[in-house]
Amino acid sequence: MSNVTFHSADGIGRICISHPPLNLFSHSLLTGLSAALAQFEADASLPLLLIYCEGQSFVAGADIAEFNNPAFSAEAINALLNRIEAQTRPVVVALHGTVLGAGMELALACHYRVAQQGTRLGLPEVKLGILPGAGGTQRLPRLVGATLALDLMLSGRPVPAQEALASGIVDAVEEGEPLALGLAFGRQLLAKGGQLRRLSAQTAPPGEHSQAIASALEAARKSPQYPAKEAIVQCVQQALTADFASGARAEADAFKRLLPSAQSRALRHLFFAQRRSRQIPGLERQVPAGKIEQVGILGAGTMGSGIAMCFLNAGIRTVLVDAAAAGLERGLQLIRSTYEAQVAKGRMAAEQASARLALLTTSLDDQALAPCDLVIEAVFEDMALKLQVCRRLGEVCKPGAIIASNTSTLDVDALAQATGRPTDVVGMHFFSPANIMRLLEVVRGAQTAPQVLKTVIDLAGKIGKTPVVSGVCFGFIGNRMAEVYLREAEFLLMEGASPAQIDEAVQALGLAMGPCRMLDMAGLDVGAKTVIECDKAGGLPPDASYRAVVRKMFELGRFGQKSGLGYYRYEGRQALPDPEAGRIAAELAQAHGIAQRSDIAAQEIVERLLYSMVNEGCKILDEGIAYRASDIDVVWAAGYGFPDFRGGPMFMAEEIGLAQIVERLEHQATTRGNRYGYWTVSPLLQRLAAQRQGFDSLQAA
Ligand code: NAI
Repeated sequence: MSNVTFHSADGIGRICISHPPLNLFSHSLLTGLSAALAQFEADASLPLLLIYCEGQSFVAGADIAEFNNPAFSAEAINALLNRIEAQTRPVVVALHGTVLGAGMELALACHYRVAQQGTRLGLPEVKLGILPGAGGTQRLPRLVGATLALDLMLSGRPVPAQEALASGIVDAVEEGEPLALGLAFGRQLLAKGGQLRRLSAQTAPPGEHSQAIASALEAARKSPQYPAKEAIVQCVQQALTADFASGARAEADAFKRLLPSAQSRALRHLFFAQRRSRQIPGLERQVPAGKIEQVGILGAGTMGSGIAMCFLNAGIRTVLVDAAAAGLERGLQLIRSTYEAQVAKGRMAAEQASARLALLTTSLDDQALAPCDLVIEAVFEDMALKLQVCRRLGEVCKPGAIIASNTSTLDVDALAQATGRPTDVVGMHFFSPANIMRLLEVVRGAQTAPQVLKTVIDLAGKIGKTPVVSGVCFGFIGNRMAEVYLREAEFLLMEGASPAQIDEAVQALGLAMGPCRMLDMAGLDVGAKTVIECDKAGGLPPDASYRAVVRKMFELGRFGQKSGLGYYRYEGRQALPDPEAGRIAAELAQAHGIAQRSDIAAQEIVERLLYSMVNEGCKILDEGIAYRASDIDVVWAAGYGFPDFRGGPMFMAEEIGLAQIVERLEHQATTRGNRYGYWTVSPLLQRLAAQRQGFDSLQAA
């Protein structure tokens, strides 16, 4: 049965789209719509057509999975939308839920739009490295002018129904079912004479269009890594200066050019990767997620207070506990000042800030954690302390409560055992600043109960985080890979590369920050302590030069940005070169018999930092620590500032070619020696490269 049906009643033709769950625009929807439209066209007695959707939303976008289907081309969609717009009787569309991408373009092709209260509308294509390819760049500017059209298409942000009404994107916003709203609107329209209104024939409302276009073009050219932006601006310019047909041709050409681009492929890869990362092998669909109504956090430091805000922002009652009065006060102050700053910047209403703070209670007594459904420990990264804290939480937390650790490197299984109730335990590794960074590594212990995992993944969604499940190992997915990256950065420093040279080489690829800037910001004390803790646990190679620089910097009190000196010297937040850092590295090189040289090229830096990281990623996959390569990409894009337009390190490696990565790793092993196994190629990577296969050929367990 078709997912699109046509029928008529009370003199109004109705096309109903029912293609659950999101009514995505697909090939079958396209043919269904076309057939239904033909039925309307064949019945000249009907004065008006209403299009609406059943289910939780109007068309929430195009089915991206169908982009490679040649029958589902932008041309085919455009032909249908133009046919809808060309109807000689008025076409009304009733909107609800999320009206995005092709759904929004379908709505713009209709003559009138009525939306249910709560509807959100947008053209988010730019986030996938493409532009609206079904007339969106041509119709929206004609409707609302250049400024708003550019804002919506360049940011991809959805607008709430009321804003859409105020700006004329929709004609009415009402409470009620879409069908009823559409019929009521349609009848009123007919009563008023039922004028036709075709956006393609309209000119934009008056405004400062050329100025808006000039400044958008200038901004777009500053981010050439997102070519869709410039293309959108150019199409909008066409919409305002040329006829619809030539603008539509420009849009179609740009769409064809952008779709196969490396950037769009990378962005689409990440889009799917994020959706997949929530699917956990061995976690049956029927496992129910538990309810989390109150969260407890132990340790009110940088992380504890940031984590508390994640829950407060989502309207969840939170108890923040610290052993030290000063620690608790500092945490509370951090939360207050964050909200105050948001109010001052106009990003939050003062009442909203007070409402969030009202959900927070603080205590110096860990008994306050007893009623919580989930307790997250965020005390210092010290195994002895964490074991003691977990033992205590095992006693204090109510039966059935989840006990989570925010440790960034330590053995979650050992912590789970310490609680005496290991099935209740899971790692919840937030990233700093926790209230801002999207990534949440969910560490699945050997005994973590399926329901605990399901509850935490579900909760991650509610607090706006992107969860990725990792198995237990030093540093989990992200920090374990970062360790290899930092190892090579430090060897390069000792070999004579400057911090700026190293940072610039990876920043040129689009990484937000190179390793030296990153560590300076996170704190070299924090970085050094991680290495020291790992050493205590016997986790370091027997190499005295291993991460010698960070350890020395820590010894010298160079803690990075917070102490004004680290790999760089700081004036405020500005990082300046510091010859002293070079001298420290040179001394260490001499002490460890490392030869300094002056021929370190950017390509070598990239290969040593990033290819070694990809190799570690393959080891992580092989060990089953990550379920899929795409999960690793999500970790790096959402937690470490890896450029989304490169799709993450594993996607990037495939783009370069896995055989090429292997060849360069082997080259390093030959030229640098492989005494500690640093350049041993992962057997999985070796095999995939030899068989000319990609990571997709690996099935999740
Ligand atoms: P922090 O030093 O800012 O805060 C730790 C807090 O724990 C302090 O307020 C301290 O008074 C409190 N505390 C210590 N012992 C306690 C006890 N027995 N009972 C109650 N409270 C106690 O540390 P930070 O940076 O917030 O780190 C906390 C955890 O988060 C560590 O496990 C760390 O590895 C992890 N983490 C840190 C990240 C970072 O960038 N700082 C990123 C991700 C995880």
